[in-house]
Amino acid sequence: MVLRAEHIHKSFGKKKVLEDLSLEVHPATICGIVGENGSGKSTLLKILVGEWKPSKGRVEMKGQMGYCPQQISLYSQLTVQEHFRYFGAAYRMPPDALKDRQEHLLDYFNFGKYRSERVAHLSGGTAQKLNLSLALLHDPDLLILDEPYSGFDWDTYTRFWDYLGQLKKSSCSVLVVSHFITEKSIFDRIYTLENGRLQ
Ligand SMILES: Nc1ncnc2c1ncn2[C@@H]1O[C@H](COP(=O)(O)OP(=O)(O)OP(=O)(O)O)[C@@H](O)[C@H]1O
Ligand SMILES: [Mg+2]
Repeated sequence: MVLRAEHIHKSFGKKKVLEDLSLEVHPATICGIVGENGSGKSTLLKILVGEWKPSKGRVEMKGQMGYCPQQISLYSQLTVQEHFRYFGAAYRMPPDALKDRQEHLLDYFNFGKYRSERVAHLSGGTAQKLNLSLALLHDPDLLILDEPYSGFDWDTYTRFWDYLGQLKKSSCSVLVVSHFITEKSIFDRIYTLENGRLQ
């Protein structure tokens, strides 16, 4: 397994959002999580990546992880290229490997022409491409994505699903929260988050 969450509980005050939720993600698999607005999908992902502590329960992870949050978290005054440099340093990537990955992602998601643009001046969809590319930059073993494509145009949207298929072939596992699961065939498992648990 690459990720195991056991008996996760999370409450905000009296509001119980997650109740005794358990989940296991295996190598080279793609899992989807669907569920209505407010069902707790983003809360679950924040706990899985360690951003929030669960009220009870534990999370175990193997290997490197990449996370693309639902709320774009970028620095408005930095350019696209500066983001790659900053995240590459945080992932401790050698300069040549960083440059290769950066060029590949800029090309694959077709936003190379914005490399010198500050994030404050990017369109919503382009900022989302950068948000996703930063999660993919270091070739993680597990990718955790929270609705990463709502602003994508159709071509980028289909490329996104193709990319997930390629990642799976290269043994990466993916956990993706999505409202529209159109590409059902790519998934090994689709969970529904309901009443605090995955069904
Ligand atoms: N920081 C917080 N403080 C209090 N309540 C919160 C907090 N974050 C989330 N919640 C509550 O937890 C519940 C689950 O929220 P969450 O964002 O996880 O839902 P979601 O399934 O991701 O929804 P969406 O599909 O709209 O993204 C909601 O009722 C929300 O109001
Ligand atoms: Mg959410």
